[in-house]
Amino acid sequence: MPFVNPLQVQWQFAQKLYSEWSENSPDLLKLIKDVKTPALVIRKSKLQKKFNEVKKHFQGFNIYYAVKANDDEEVIKTFARLGAGFEVASTFELQKVFKFGVSPERVISSNPVKPLEFIDFCLSGGVDRFAVDSFAEIDKISRFRKRARVYVRLAVPNVGSDWPLSRKFGVDTDTAVEILEYANSKGLIPYGITFHVGSQCNNLQNWFIAVKKAKEVWEKALSKGIKLQMLNIGGGIPARYTRESLSVKEIADYVKGLLNKYFGMKTLELQMEPGRGLVAEAGILVTSVIGKAERFKGEKWVYIDGGVFHGLAETLGGIRYSFYLPEKEGEELDFFTIGGISCDSMDVVAEKVALPKGIDVGDRIIILTAGAYTTVYASSFNGFPPPRVVMI
Ligand SMILES: Cc1ncc(COP(=O)(O)O)c(C=O)c1O
Repeated sequence: MPFVNPLQVQWQFAQKLYSEWSENSPDLLKLIKDVKTPALVIRKSKLQKKFNEVKKHFQGFNIYYAVKANDDEEVIKTFARLGAGFEVASTFELQKVFKFGVSPERVISSNPVKPLEFIDFCLSGGVDRFAVDSFAEIDKISRFRKRARVYVRLAVPNVGSDWPLSRKFGVDTDTAVEILEYANSKGLIPYGITFHVGSQCNNLQNWFIAVKKAKEVWEKALSKGIKLQMLNIGGGIPARYTRESLSVKEIADYVKGLLNKYFGMKTLELQMEPGRGLVAEAGILVTSVIGKAERFKGEKWVYIDGGVFHGLAETLGGIRYSFYLPEKEGEELDFFTIGGISCDSMDVVAEKVALPKGIDVGDRIIILTAGAYTTVYASSFNGFPPPRVVMI
């Protein structure tokens, strides 16, 4: 078997992601050198390309961009202009979406547990579609005495998803039907079913089980006299971080096959609410090396002006990024641990990262595939501001 150098494997994948993102443009290299760090640099053309790819392969679906992934106004504006719908979880997110002239018919809210003030704000603004997964939520929504439409969130397997979402939300199929019946009795409209296979999902089996469960609820509801209209397949489309992932086409072909088999595509309204899959690969986080050290047993560290509190929170939950320094291409590599800017000892971004041996203070480290769940999680901990967003 040929010898595989783990340093090279990491570095080459990072190099590939960078050259795809930058299309090897010298202008972008200059921008990366000059931009004040930390900065999330997002290419609008990549957002457009990804949206069009999802739209093409998931033809027949209404796409609601999950704003939580990246709520930057330029991102929202870009998707609004492309005709996307939006999935929002808070008054703040909805206000941002409305700011760009998006009509309430293009908005849904899928967090199954919502603050009362937010429900009120939605209903007053004409947004009347809400995910639910508890009787208490039906009680809350029905307080407003409007014929809101509710769709029930099912618990489905999140096996193999790098960012699982199944424990906190979702109900079994029998409870789902009871919730829909309860909604009906309270004057709400039982509208549909939703699920989430887990964010960064690379396991098609999760969609298989989810669609089968949805079909079960659909039929059981029908037997109770409740005719549903809509199926929402949630998010989960993965991005490429340190390896290849399922493509949009592979997922779409598979899911459409399932829907044909279990539902017959024409009879229902289809929705999806991707977040990560639409924005992650459009953005890179440009950081600067602010220090370096050798710790006990010769472990090599570099410290950057980002960190788990400053854009890289998902590293705490197991997301691993690719790191690249275009100007040091071809240099000898070594393993490093990357520490964040704050004084907190949990602010460690990644271990065993392939970086050039000669890396030094002031060098710029590019963190690839950083468009999703980065700036939205960032705080000003320790007095360091969150990364700025630069849209190009
Ligand atoms: C209700 C809901 N919809 C959509 C999404 C977006 O998921 P993803 O980023 O995996 O596409 C999330 C992510 O947390 C979610 O909670």
